[in-house]
Order: sequence, then structure tokens, then C-alpha cells
Amino acid sequence: MPNDIVIAIDGYSGCGKSSTAKAVAHALDYTYIDSGAMYRAVTLYLLRDKISFSDIEAVVAALEQMQITFKMKMEAELPLYETYLNGENVEREIRSMDISDSVSEVSAIPQVRQAMVGLQRNMGANKRVVMDGRDIGTNVFPNAEVKVFMTADLYVRASRRQKELKERGVSVAVSEIVENLAERDQIDSTRKENPLVKAEDAVVIDTTDLEFNKQVQRVVDIAREAMQAP
Ligand code: DC
Repeated sequence: MPNDIVIAIDGYSGCGKSSTAKAVAHALDYTYIDSGAMYRAVTLYLLRDKISFSDIEAVVAALEQMQITFKMKMEAELPLYETYLNGENVEREIRSMDISDSVSEVSAIPQVRQAMVGLQRNMGANKRVVMDGRDIGTNVFPNAEVKVFMTADLYVRASRRQKELKERGVSVAVSEIVENLAERDQIDSTRKENPLVKAEDAVVIDTTDLEFNKQVQRVVDIAREAMQAP
């Protein structure tokens, strides 16, 4: 019997972590968990309730009111994961530029991180998960059997993100996306609490010139090998 494992995929904003992680989870019949979506859902809640990010007491009280879950449904024979906040499907709303502009600030709040990391550890307690984010291999699951660190050229990332948004009917200038990605990378990599850094034992995959199927296959190969480890 192959071992059940945890696959941690970290890296910069917009370098294909989530599409890769989803495809890897599908290939291995594992569950995909989008940890960034959880920080986005928290950001949405705080913005809707007009809670100042610097009012820590109010942020902590709000965290206690939030229930963040994922639901999976099949669409065209592919699993589609959607994020729910207190029972409401917020998948579309959490991908907006308004949320992208504030999410790094919110995810740098230690109390927010503590709450989300606790939930993420519970979700992966029985293994068989592919989780993507910024601190999965370094902090959430430091003992993950497979750790991948993804990176790609900033302009390539921005034009991919622009295409994705366009497919969802949202038109944004590439320069605005470059600015947002660069700013988020900067905040995510320099924050005090669990910044985005490559885990020492992570495999680096640069997707700038890599075909999507190849990057998925590389992670699947690494995972299958780890599943056979004694
Ligand atoms: O993966 P994403 O772009 O949806 O993530 C949104 C933000 O959430 C990202 O700018 C940083 C934060 N994040 C984090 O701090 N830790 C994670 N494990 C995942 C995301």
C-alpha cells in the first residue's frame, strides 16, 4: 500500500500554484486545499463589516464569528473547489482586486495566521491533501513528505493572471496586476510571522518557460516516489 502523504506547494503570487495543486490532487485522488482562499475570506469579512485591520480586538472577535469551509463539486468531470464563508459561496468575490489589494495586510496579522494555521492543520490531519500557500512547507506542515517551491518571472505571472481574470469577465490592466503581485510578494516575504521563504528541503520549480502539464507531472512524480518510501 502506498503511504498517505501531505504535499505542500508554496511560492510567489500568481505562479500557478493553485492550478498545479488542483491538477496534482486530481491525479492522485487527494483533496486540494487553497490556504490563500482562507485569508481572502477573512479579508472579505473584515471589509464587509468595516473592521479596521489595526483594531486587533475587533479582528479577533470577528474571527470567532467566521466559519470558512470548502465544497467540492464535479464540473465537466473535473473537481471544482469553492470557498464558503458562514455558508455563503464567496468564491467569486474573494478573487476580486479589492480583496487582492488588502489580503497581504490581513494575512500578516499574527492572530489571523494563528487561526488559519489551526484550521489548515486540522484539514490535513489525515494526510491525502495537497495544500498551496506561502508557509505550508515551513510552518503549517514542516514534516510534509513533499515540498515544492514554485516561482516564475513577474511579467509572465501578471499576464497569466490577467488572462484568468479575463476568462471570469474581469478586465484589469497588466500594469495594475504587476504592481499588485510585486507588492504582495514584498509583504508576504518580509512579514514577521511565517514569511514566504523556501523550505530548505523544498524542490524548486520555475514555471516561466514550463508547460503546465510538465509542471504537474513533475510534482506527481515526486509525490509517487514519496508514497513508496519505506
Ligand atoms: O494564494 P493567494 O494569492 O490566493 O493568497 C492570498 C494572500 O494570502 C497572499 O498574498 C498571502 C496570503 N497567504 C499567506 O499568507 N499564507 C498562506 N499560506 C497562503 C496565502
